[in-house]
Amino acid sequence: LLRTEIPVGLRRPPGPTPLPLIGNVLELGGNPHLSLTKMSQRYGDVMQIQIGTRPVVVLSGNETVRQALIKQGDDFAGRPDLYSFQFISNGKSLTFSNDHAGVWRARRKLAQNALRSFSTVESPTSSYSCVLEEHISLEAEYLVKRLSGVMEADGSFDPFRHIVVSVANVICAMCFGRRYSHDDQELVNLVNLSDEFGRVIASGNPADFIPALRILPNRNMRAFLGISNKFNTFVQNIVTDHYRSFDKSNIRDITDSLIEHCQDKKVDENANIQISDEKIVSIVNDLFGAGFDTISTALSWCLMYLVSHPDIQKKIHQVLDEHVGRERSPRLSDRPSLPYVEAFILETFRHSSFLPFTIPHCTTKDTALNGFYIPKDTCIFVNQWQVNHDPSLWKDPSTFSPERFLNAEGTGINKAESEKVMLFGLGKRRCIGESIGRSEVFLFLAVLLQRLEFRSLPGQKLDLTPEYGLTMKHKRCQLSASLRYRHGADSE
Ligand code: HEM
Repeated sequence: LLRTEIPVGLRRPPGPTPLPLIGNVLELGGNPHLSLTKMSQRYGDVMQIQIGTRPVVVLSGNETVRQALIKQGDDFAGRPDLYSFQFISNGKSLTFSNDHAGVWRARRKLAQNALRSFSTVESPTSSYSCVLEEHISLEAEYLVKRLSGVMEADGSFDPFRHIVVSVANVICAMCFGRRYSHDDQELVNLVNLSDEFGRVIASGNPADFIPALRILPNRNMRAFLGISNKFNTFVQNIVTDHYRSFDKSNIRDITDSLIEHCQDKKVDENANIQISDEKIVSIVNDLFGAGFDTISTALSWCLMYLVSHPDIQKKIHQVLDEHVGRERSPRLSDRPSLPYVEAFILETFRHSSFLPFTIPHCTTKDTALNGFYIPKDTCIFVNQWQVNHDPSLWKDPSTFSPERFLNAEGTGINKAESEKVMLFGLGKRRCIGESIGRSEVFLFLAVLLQRLEFRSLPGQKLDLTPEYGLTMKHKRCQLSASLRYRHGADSE
């Protein structure tokens, strides 16, 4: 981008002057979402930085991001060939690999169909509206019991530690047709390791851009490789078991349905796209990986905001008592009648912006955006944090206020405001688990808050500063919870 000729009438995106070899790494610092937000105030919505010797175009601003990812979606739908991405699913990830557009599109369609079949289909054996609702409800009820038990035994708990197992069980049920005990050390260790994973895979990791950094001793990188291997082995063992017990007349879960696709080769008859069996079955790695860390992080942030805003928690308790009562469990169908809960979740998404950047994109051809020339294969960062904190879009963006999402009467969600929150990406690469994610955060939260009141520990100062990563976490801490009332079953 530095050396290419710029077509007449277009300009090169502005940006800070890079240093030789390292580019603008020092200016990026430890919180690139903040430093790049600040830089965008000076250079604008389309700016160019350099990491190592590689140019990166950073997009900010609601309109500009929509223009790129939706209106010019095909031009910006690629993934860059970043160093760390090759270790995810042995380089065969649907999410992170730079597959040819046709292959990626066919795999994405397969993933979407498999997810739909094992989430929103009606549950044949129960009174739940769909299997997703059934899995979430059972895991959430179990989590209430688990947290009550830990409270009785220890007097406090680490919220992420327990939530992540429950959330992982929901995606395990869909992907692998099984759940794990909260004491299963293999799963507990695996799902609690995602912090280091997220630090390496985050946008702007210098080792992705500067080869010399890969040969230096690097604790994060070593941890990341260890986690990737552990993760791949965990899923591979389950897949091998599935191949052994596969029965075409009884498709049990997403893994089975992908194996069935390998046998039928029905992936994309029209385009005649050839995809290896490994690339079909490894889709389950993407779904399992994406399905637990994001949602657990969202729920964990929800609890942090609730304990630091007891008035908001009280209000949610009130609306749950009013609209659901205490005699039955909340259901997905309660969502429209609980706009305050929905507004709280939206504000948690906006304020924490725990996925500060989308996964990096890359241009698939020479293109132009807002009059700036961007050649093919340019790495693109999309700063979701900036959009969610842009003072020209939000009143007092640093204030936590669910009310900003309610309509004037307080009886529903203001759709235009809610659509400005950017957390799932947009356009061609938009998250395929968005509706599952939103349903899951709502129902887990509603069940937890119907039964429990959460508090911080006396004397403990809560630290809500996010730690930078692909998904930003709050510092691990201890919370306490008490049952708001007892069901007959609780005292058994
Ligand atoms: C991609 C957010 C839950 C599966 C993404 C991206 C974001 C995101 C920001 C990248 C978009 C881009 O590159 O432009 C979230 C959030 C979630 C969530 C905030 C929960 C609150 C899920 C779940 C699943 C899932 C539950 C699946 C079970 C995926 C996949 C991709 C993706 C497969 C890659 C799509 C592609 O590259 O074509 N998600 N996600 N996500 N997400 Fe999610």
